[in-house]
Amino acid sequence: MTDSGRDGASLVDRYSHWTALQKEKNRIGKGSLRELFESDPARVDDFSAQAAGLYLDYSKNHLTREARELLLKIADEADLSSTITAMFAGEKINNTEDRAALHVALRSPNAETEEEKAVHQTLTKLTRFVEKVHAGKWRGFTDLSITDVVNIGIGGSDLGPRMVSEALSPFNLPHVALHFVANVDGADLTAKLAGLNPETTLFIVASKSFSTLETLENAKSARRWLTDAGCSEADVAKHFVSITSKVDKAVEFGIAEENLFPMWDWVGGRYSLWSAIGLPIALAIGAEQFKQLLAGAHEMDRHFRSAELAENIPVIQALIAFWYNQLWGAHSQVILPYNHLLRSLPAHLQQLDMESLGKRVTRQGEPVDYPTGLVIWGSEGTVGQHSFHQLLHQGTRVIPADFIVNRRAQHELPHQQRHLYANCLSQSQALMEGKSLDRAKAELIASGMPEAQAERLAQHKMIPGNRPSTTILMEELSPRTLGALIAMYEHKVFVLSVLLNINAFDQWGVELGKQLSGPIHEALENPDAQADLDPSTRRLVDLFRGQS
Ligand code: F6P
Repeated sequence: MTDSGRDGASLVDRYSHWTALQKEKNRIGKGSLRELFESDPARVDDFSAQAAGLYLDYSKNHLTREARELLLKIADEADLSSTITAMFAGEKINNTEDRAALHVALRSPNAETEEEKAVHQTLTKLTRFVEKVHAGKWRGFTDLSITDVVNIGIGGSDLGPRMVSEALSPFNLPHVALHFVANVDGADLTAKLAGLNPETTLFIVASKSFSTLETLENAKSARRWLTDAGCSEADVAKHFVSITSKVDKAVEFGIAEENLFPMWDWVGGRYSLWSAIGLPIALAIGAEQFKQLLAGAHEMDRHFRSAELAENIPVIQALIAFWYNQLWGAHSQVILPYNHLLRSLPAHLQQLDMESLGKRVTRQGEPVDYPTGLVIWGSEGTVGQHSFHQLLHQGTRVIPADFIVNRRAQHELPHQQRHLYANCLSQSQALMEGKSLDRAKAELIASGMPEAQAERLAQHKMIPGNRPSTTILMEELSPRTLGALIAMYEHKVFVLSVLLNINAFDQWGVELGKQLSGPIHEALENPDAQADLDPSTRRLVDLFRGQS
């Protein structure tokens, strides 16, 4: 029991400004976003910030100067500034695994520390490899050049490189086509291999642990696909490279040691796209553009490390998420990129945020009595407008939204870009302003509807508004701005973990399902297997085996 009489760690005990923050929430809760703008002509200037090519407009949030001030005081109480310094210094902030979280070293232009030196050596190796493939000098078992590259990986070894290479496809060089396989469902690999020529296909096995079931099963099937096509066991090495921290396991699989790129225990999977895990990105857009991606992320790192907390974009983003999560009852946050090329960004942010913040105990191991991670979801605009936006506008939950949009597009259809941009703005405006009952009724009457009927229907057409959103604007989606955008979200998640006093860098929760799948798989294969199964699981196993 804590001082406040609660079970488990509580934020009211942790932060002396908590009660004042709650009072400010209650005060703001009585007003509306519209009133916040009416009472403060300087609101847009005061509630916006810029860094690394990103412009953040957070004025359409239920935030006053007072609330922001209190949230910043809470960040001070959480010792945020010194924890940021500790992360950059490589201290072992991942306390349950006794590791540093040094993904920022992956995009550092310096080669001073031991980690930075290893990063730069790897970048050199990656650059040479990419050049060799592009020059047609990497050859398969029949001496033909590589035309297709298949990345086999899952989680952080898939989502980041997949999303970035999709987002930067306008920068693609013509040399090789990329494919991604993640699921252990054989339908994934089968579909990706259909139409590929084994003689000209290269596989990247991306697995930090080189022990992930999905990746190993897909890699084994890929190897069989090669040997079935006439590739000798000795030549299999010509078709595989791997990024891993487990050299022995990769070599045992049959990958030549010189074809391995290192990973380090100080890089978490969901923070790894900047490492050699980003190899597919470099193969698609070239090593120079890949370095631009790193440069954009580094620019955000510098901003995060040096800007005042009040001007610090990742910090502001985290404070807003914290505010809605803790005091406004938000359960989720929606990510709405108004760019088709960013359609996989919500999936990447899901892993980044939910695997980092889905925790139930503090860093010290005490159960928390407050909510931790929000559900992160979303999809590309305008597609989502014709699907789930209804719930954003008229549903009963507060769902803070992040709109992400770029001014200039890479395609040659500028009039469509104006439509896209207009829709992005109109959605955030509609969420904030809504439509009053009176206006809904007046519109119906003006259309010729009898008053009594208009009265009834107006209830359905009325939109409450007052729904918060933040807009992130960039000039164009380029390797640099994308690097900055992803790094911003990484740091936002880190700041949230500091405010919540949880470890953002472990993921113990995913282990149990992995452990249990082994005995179940055995029971599916062997009727005599002695698996300790609950009755429901036993029945489902029997049904798979055709018995019951
Ligand atoms: O199961 C979760 C996880 O460990 C993620 O954290 C990670 O990104 C993914 O699996 C893949 O792991 P690996 O790169 O070791 O195959």
